[in-house]
Amino acid sequence: MDILNWVGRFHPALVHLPIGILIIAAVFHWISARRPGWKGTAVVSTLYFFGFLAAAVAAFAGWMLAKEGGYQSDTIFWHRWLGILMVILSFVLWRLNRNTSRITMSWLGVGLIFGLLLVGHLGGEMTHGENYMVENAPNFVKKLASYEEGTHYPVYNDPDSTLVYADIIMPILEKKCWTCHSNNITKGGLNMEDLEAFLKGGKNGKVIEGTATSSELFKRVTLDPESKKFMPPKGNALSYGEIKLLEWWLDSGAPTDKSIASLETPANIQSILLSRYQLDTKPKSYIEKTKVDAVTEETMEKIRQHGFSIRQIAMNNNFVDVGWRDVDSLSVNNEIGILEEIADKIAWLDLGSTNLDDASFKVIGTMKNLVRLKVEDNPVTDAAIKDLSDLKHLESLNLYKTKITDICAADLVNLKELKKLFIWQTEFGDEGSTQLKAALPKVEVIGGYTLNTPPSD
Ligand code: HEC
Repeated sequence: MDILNWVGRFHPALVHLPIGILIIAAVFHWISARRPGWKGTAVVSTLYFFGFLAAAVAAFAGWMLAKEGGYQSDTIFWHRWLGILMVILSFVLWRLNRNTSRITMSWLGVGLIFGLLLVGHLGGEMTHGENYMVENAPNFVKKLASYEEGTHYPVYNDPDSTLVYADIIMPILEKKCWTCHSNNITKGGLNMEDLEAFLKGGKNGKVIEGTATSSELFKRVTLDPESKKFMPPKGNALSYGEIKLLEWWLDSGAPTDKSIASLETPANIQSILLSRYQLDTKPKSYIEKTKVDAVTEETMEKIRQHGFSIRQIAMNNNFVDVGWRDVDSLSVNNEIGILEEIADKIAWLDLGSTNLDDASFKVIGTMKNLVRLKVEDNPVTDAAIKDLSDLKHLESLNLYKTKITDICAADLVNLKELKKLFIWQTEFGDEGSTQLKAALPKVEVIGGYTLNTPPSD
């Protein structure tokens, strides 16, 4: 029920109320047990009552919140039942306050304070993560809490300069294995700190051989943890992400000097690298990878005066997107020469419905970094396509409603990166498509006609 979920959301705010009231109650209780006749004694019972009431309401909201799920199961177990114990304890303190020995009762009150602190701490852990309270604490507190710095991963920005072994794999082994397999101690004859020794292996020979599944190193960390041979035999086992990274490294041939960028990264590894190290390894598109100098504002202004629209494609990318503004007195065929000045900086060009003629394609052909070209609805013929042969990065070409025919397929095959070709309402048909597909299987030919579904009769 939605309304109960909603009530649950109030839990983190509501809990402060009983904690405050009950702590005051317990402190008053403690003082009044030691100083008979103290004025504050009169309110102790009332404070416990309101503390109990507030605790019960907060616990109910907490129960509703827990039903939404998403919390770690053992922490929530302790938090929940300790919380309920606090409700009961405050009830007991309220009811029995008058009759039972004051000293015993005030000790119960002290127990209540500690219980409240512990419950609150467990709750905080669930919302903020385990190390929230020690992360920025002075060193002696960190020691007390046996907080390991190593649980926080470094941030890597660049897959080209991040090394798979030195930056990713070695720190994992260092943290989880070096206590027993290092220059100082070589349990099982295995030293993982010294690379040469590591590759040589342990007393039973190589621990890295072939792929992950054939390597002793990987077998030992993926055994049943109850097994005698499971590694590490004590201390923290490798996490799921660490095992996956190790597997990926071994399956890639266990390189010790390669960068992340030089390896294939399957989707699951991409997401582990991203969440653990904020390392983005998704393949970049051509215009993301390629850097060009910015077109100056002055040049942009000049180009605009020649009837074009021009803007950078993104804040952090200097490539430009150029179009035609359809200024009455100007013809695109007369003005297009101005674009030669910035030819290699144009990634997207849109000259659809501008009466563009074949001759203008001489200029378009010099735009070597062009990725998307729209020239639909123009009197363009097969001859124009010849001039596009140097556009090695062109991915999308719109020739809808032009005068092209199957003949231009012979030139289109030069556009090695072409992924989308729009040919609706042209004479480009069956024959051209077949020829193009044979040379560039990736191409999707989009038009009234599709290769795989011949018209039914
Ligand atoms: C607490 C000490 C300890 C830790 C930590 C530890 N090991 Fe071991 N390791 C041993 C002992 C003892 C042996 C020898 C007995 C055996 O082979 O099971 C051994 C043997 C091995 C061997 C077999 C070597 C051979 O040639 O027989 C491999 C592989 C291995 N460990 C991998 C690991 C990995 C990977 C880690 C970290 C995830 C790790 N160990 C962490 C104690 C440890």
